[in-house]
Amino acid sequence: MTEATIAIDGPAGTGKSSVSRGLARAMGARYLDTGAMYRIVTLAVLRAGVDPSDSGAVADLAAGVDLGVGFDPDEDRSYLGGEDVSGEIRGDAVTRAVSAVSAVPEVRTRLVQRQRELADGPGSVVVEGRDIGTVVLPDADVKIFLTASAEERARRRDRQNVSNGLPGDYETVLADVRRRDHLDSTRAVSPLRAADDAIVVDSSDMTEAEVVAHLRDLVEQRARVRQR
Ligand code: DC
Repeated sequence: MTEATIAIDGPAGTGKSSVSRGLARAMGARYLDTGAMYRIVTLAVLRAGVDPSDSGAVADLAAGVDLGVGFDPDEDRSYLGGEDVSGEIRGDAVTRAVSAVSAVPEVRTRLVQRQRELADGPGSVVVEGRDIGTVVLPDADVKIFLTASAEERARRRDRQNVSNGLPGDYETVLADVRRRDHLDSTRAVSPLRAADDAIVVDSSDMTEAEVVAHLRDLVEQRARVRQR
């Protein structure tokens, strides 16, 4: 397969992360998790005792954050000032504060620039996020917008909560999924939307392996079209 830059966007709960990693693995490509970068900045904000809703203070702090990420789809590696924070950025405190931090325009400008530099490395790369096809890499070779119905995403989240020992509450989870969809798609800075030239893939009735196989086919089709 020829080298390609693949952008994968979509809301939470679509299996986007597993599918993006699976595709990168299948293609022997590098994998870039842009959500992890917003999470690292959020951890820096929390550790500094800065209020995540104070956008001026967040912007100032973000300008000096030394962050690093790995490219291996099989290894989740995130660094803050050289320290491995891969586990900590997935914790509740960061998850609660990351929306506010990722809405700060200066944070986005800085991270988008960094994401472009990181994507521009050797070989193929799969870049996963919310605004990759629209903002970060508008010239990506293949743009995928992964969706699933709100009901299916809520079912998956509810099942995950139960397997993590939390009480199941499908109706509350569904209301939360709908609320976040609304916030994400109507926010002023980089609202979540499919790029005009993105291929929309609905994963509601597909297994993870089926989605990965489908995306591989799409990438190969695109590569064949480009070679003509
Ligand atoms: O995909 P995730 O849950 O790790 O993303 C963490 C947060 O960062 C989430 O609130 C969405 C935001 N994000 C973003 O605004 N733009 C991106 N390219 C990636 C993530």
